[in-house]
Amino acid sequence: MQKANVSLAIDGPAASGKSTTAKRLASIFRFRYIDSGSMFRAVTLKCVENGVDPHQQPDKVASVASSLDIQFPDYGTVSVNGELVTHQLRQESVARAIGPIASNPQVRHTLAEHQRRLASTPDARYPGFTHGKETIQGVVMDGRDIGTVILPHAELKVFMVADVRDRAQRRFQELQGKATLDQVMADIEARDLADRTRTISPLKKADDAIELDTSRLSIDQQVAAIQKLVYQKLQQH
Ligand code: DC
Repeated sequence: MQKANVSLAIDGPAASGKSTTAKRLASIFRFRYIDSGSMFRAVTLKCVENGVDPHQQPDKVASVASSLDIQFPDYGTVSVNGELVTHQLRQESVARAIGPIASNPQVRHTLAEHQRRLASTPDARYPGFTHGKETIQGVVMDGRDIGTVILPHAELKVFMVADVRDRAQRRFQELQGKATLDQVMADIEARDLADRTRTISPLKKADDAIELDTSRLSIDQQVAAIQKLVYQKLQQH
C-alpha cells in the first residue's frame, strides 16, 4: 500500500464557520487538526493571567509565546503546558486583548514554527484513510494566513467568505443572549478590519485558493463541499 500526504489549508474571517468545518473534516478523514486561532488565543490567555500588557510589553508577550507548549490532545481540545484550556480560550478578556498579540512578529514567528512542526510530525492517532491503493494521511489547519504563509504548498487551499450579517447571526445564536446582534456585528467588523489590515500576515486569499461562500450553507453543506474538493484533488494526483 502506498502512502500520500495531504495538507488542507482553510482560511477566512471570524465566524465564517471554518473551525467547525475544519474540525469535522479532520475527524472524517482521520487527519490531524490544527486550530491556529487557538494558539493565538492561548498566548493571549497566558498574558492576561500573568498581567502582561500586550501593547506596552511586546517582548514579554514574545517570551510568554516561546515558553508555552500548546497541544491539541483531541479534535477540539487545547492544552497549554499540559493543562486543558479549551473553554478559557473563549473568554471575553482573551478576545479583547488578542489584537496586538496577533500582530506581534515574534509571536507569529514562534507560532508559525510550532504550526509547521505539528503539521509535519506523524502521529499514530491520525492514521488517515484508504483511497484506492493508497493510504492518505494529512493535516487540516485553519486560520488567516495558512494558505499564504504557513503552508504555501498545501495540496488544497480553501478561502471561506460569508456576508457579515450571516456571520453575525451565527455568532449571535451561539452566544445565546450574552450580547446583542448589533454588538456581535460591530465586534466582527472590528476583527475583520484588524485581520485584513495587519501588516504582518494579514487575512488574504492565496492566489491558488478556492473561494467558498458559506453565507447560505449549513455546516454539513460546507463539509460536503470541501470533501468533494479533496476527492477531486485525489483524482488529479
Ligand atoms: O480563528 P479565531 O477567531 O480563533 O482567531 C483568534 C484571533 O487570532 C483572531 O483575532 C485572528 C488571529 N489569528 C491570526 O492572526 N492568524 C491565524 N492564523 C489565526 C488566528
